[in-house]
Amino acid sequence: MRQYDFDEVIERKGTSSVKHDKLKLLFGRDDLLSLWVADMDFRTPDFIVKALKERCDHEVFGYTFAPDSYFESITTWVQYRYHWKVPREWISYIPGIVRGVSFALDCFTQPGDKVIIQPPVYHPFRLVPEALGREVLDNPLRLVNGRYEMDFEHLESLMDERCKVLILCSPHNPGGIVWNKDTLIRLAEICHRHGVLVISDEIHAEMVFPGNTQSPFASVSELAAVNSLTFMAPSKTFNIAGIVSSYAVVPDPVLREKFFAYLQARELGEGTIFAYTATTAAYTYGAEWLQQMRQYVIANMNYVDEYLKNHIPQIKVYPAQASFLLWLDCRELKLSQEELVRLFVEDARLALNDGRIFGAEGVGYMRLNIGCPRAVLEKALPALAQAVNK
Ligand SMILES: Cc1ncc(COP(=O)(O)O)c(C=O)c1O
Repeated sequence: MRQYDFDEVIERKGTSSVKHDKLKLLFGRDDLLSLWVADMDFRTPDFIVKALKERCDHEVFGYTFAPDSYFESITTWVQYRYHWKVPREWISYIPGIVRGVSFALDCFTQPGDKVIIQPPVYHPFRLVPEALGREVLDNPLRLVNGRYEMDFEHLESLMDERCKVLILCSPHNPGGIVWNKDTLIRLAEICHRHGVLVISDEIHAEMVFPGNTQSPFASVSELAAVNSLTFMAPSKTFNIAGIVSSYAVVPDPVLREKFFAYLQARELGEGTIFAYTATTAAYTYGAEWLQQMRQYVIANMNYVDEYLKNHIPQIKVYPAQASFLLWLDCRELKLSQEELVRLFVEDARLALNDGRIFGAEGVGYMRLNIGCPRAVLEKALPALAQAVNK
């Protein structure tokens, strides 16, 4: 069995990388370790690179439709990972999940309609509906004994006839929360009863840690299946965000007809050669790489957790169940958010996501991307310790 090397440090500066080449613009300086936006610094796996190179070797890149092998790779992968039987008719390519959310809002809601999100949450969930003139309602997650939970009572109190959509993050970013089946069944029941469509963003699903079970929202009950759109992608998992390779899964025929017709009318469901090739390779050959990558990320998480406990006990790691984004609770530092950000950027020279972008509930938090070689964290954490203890 091949052992993949996640320790390799690859220079990404100078590749128009959002993560590495936008530091000056976004953080005001260039000399920072980049630990923010959600892509990983690992080499994209060899089987994806090989498939792309083989396709390039053909040297003709004309119009290309989604081949059967693309759909088969998705249906087989989804069945294998989640025991979810998805006929190919349910699937359409979409050019990114955030764009998918915007298309769905455009398709199923009107300006002035209300959209529910559950902060602290991935910030485009607020930005996209607001940019489209929809009203965003917050149903903040509740911290109960150090764990986030959905607040169903508050959720129901928000729902009225103008409330049309709930955007679910499953697993939830930030925090890496894996929602259990009972939670999703209850959510599905409430949303169905109030006529609120669920858009389930499951981009982090494949990176659930052992011991946790990811249930695709549409698979948890009949009420969920008939009232949801699910968006998935290999892009986070296999580090191919720049290839743009997401897809929608819509079990309900009425929703599907409407949404796929919307996409078709605008040619938004047409992927690129590289998206089809990379997705097929990822899902055909990716299981072993994914297993090893997750182990590496879990070891990184344990390393960060231990380091903080020993050297910066005022900062605590939210216990992630998935993905490579750690939610750091810095409230015990007792700094204002501006001071907290300044501590990370100016004193420690680290670029993390400011917790506040995920909502007011993120104040006092920072999001740390640990999808990187251990050596990067071995530099970052002592720098942080020094800054905190100064
Ligand atoms: C929850 C979530 N959804 C969507 C995205 C972005 O997906 P895409 O690039 O396909 O729009 C991210 C990236 O960080 C994410 O964390």
